[in-house]
Amino acid sequence: MSTATPTMQPHEIIWTLTNHVFVSRAVHVVAELGVADHIADEIVSVKALASACAADAEALDRVLHLLSTYGIFDRRDDGYVHTDASRLLQSEHPMSMRAYARMIGMPVIRASLDQLEYSVRTGAPATQLVAAEGLWPYLVAHADEREIFGQAMTGKAAADTAAVLGTYDFGRFDTIADIGGGRGHLLRAILDTTPTSEGILFDLPGVIETLEVGRDRLTPRAGDFFVDPLPTADAYILMEVIHDWPDAEAAAILRAVRRAASPGARVLIIENVLDDTSPDPRGHTLDVIMLACTGGRERTGTALDGLLKAAGFSDSTVINTGGPLRIVEAVAAGQAN
Ligand SMILES: C[S@@+](CC[C@H](N)C(=O)[O-])C[C@H]1O[C@@H](n2cnc3c(N)ncnc32)[C@H](O)[C@@H]1O
Repeated sequence: MSTATPTMQPHEIIWTLTNHVFVSRAVHVVAELGVADHIADEIVSVKALASACAADAEALDRVLHLLSTYGIFDRRDDGYVHTDASRLLQSEHPMSMRAYARMIGMPVIRASLDQLEYSVRTGAPATQLVAAEGLWPYLVAHADEREIFGQAMTGKAAADTAAVLGTYDFGRFDTIADIGGGRGHLLRAILDTTPTSEGILFDLPGVIETLEVGRDRLTPRAGDFFVDPLPTADAYILMEVIHDWPDAEAAAILRAVRRAASPGARVLIIENVLDDTSPDPRGHTLDVIMLACTGGRERTGTALDGLLKAAGFSDSTVINTGGPLRIVEAVAAGQAN
């Protein structure tokens, strides 16, 4: 397997990372073509796969051969079988990452990546060159991409959600508001494990209006957290929301939560928390994605504590979930700032 590791020779590190963009692109394309949906338990010939996906057989084989060196698909005779990783590219897998690969491959994200130099020179999100209105209004206005984004968040969160639920006791709250909760996959999973809690799912009107499946004890609420009052709740979840925004906007969201919260209510920021003593490539990859695509950033526990205190929260604690996400819990102090 040829991922870059610190044990590689220096020239190999540069070669591997420089060219890795082609490997990533191969994952996007294979996800887009739906190749994994055409493989079950038996070997499927390249010819049959190419025909099912409207692809050129030789070209598809070359791309799949590359991915198989990373453990995505297993090349056997004249065809392919699944590996654990390639199964995650199946649309119906309960932890499917197909939509996540398609999302990163969407033109609006790829074009932002192409313009990373603009972000590095200016500090501003490259997305503003591609979708001047910003990523969230862009997604609201583009139904196909919004659908892929929603599926991507749901699929990606499937593994993380189990770690969060296994770590934190949500059952002690009567009302839990998931702010910027998207399709509500985390809130639904929480309500499944807390028989009496009520949930409020707050997101932009363009997201809330597309929700198809209602459920008991879950109230959707459409609004803009920069403009509209947030619901009253005992706990406020912000999963992968604060990292989408620069400090000024992140602080404004936390202040809006604090204005809605009674003293003693909890805010739970659930996202990747950077640890300067042990830098993690995943956290720093997300940080650069945020730089280019949203203008946000990943933060350390100390940086999040600073934002929380300034917004009127105290006693912040970082809780490890055992997964890549951590929970930063803080308490609404006596006075809203
Ligand atoms: C990265 S997604 C996270 C979704 C979900 N919390 C999760 O972890 O899968 C950020 C969410 O914030 C929502 N959002 C962005 N701007 C918003 C605003 N001004 N008011 C309310 N929600 C907003 C988006 O629609 C999106 O669902």
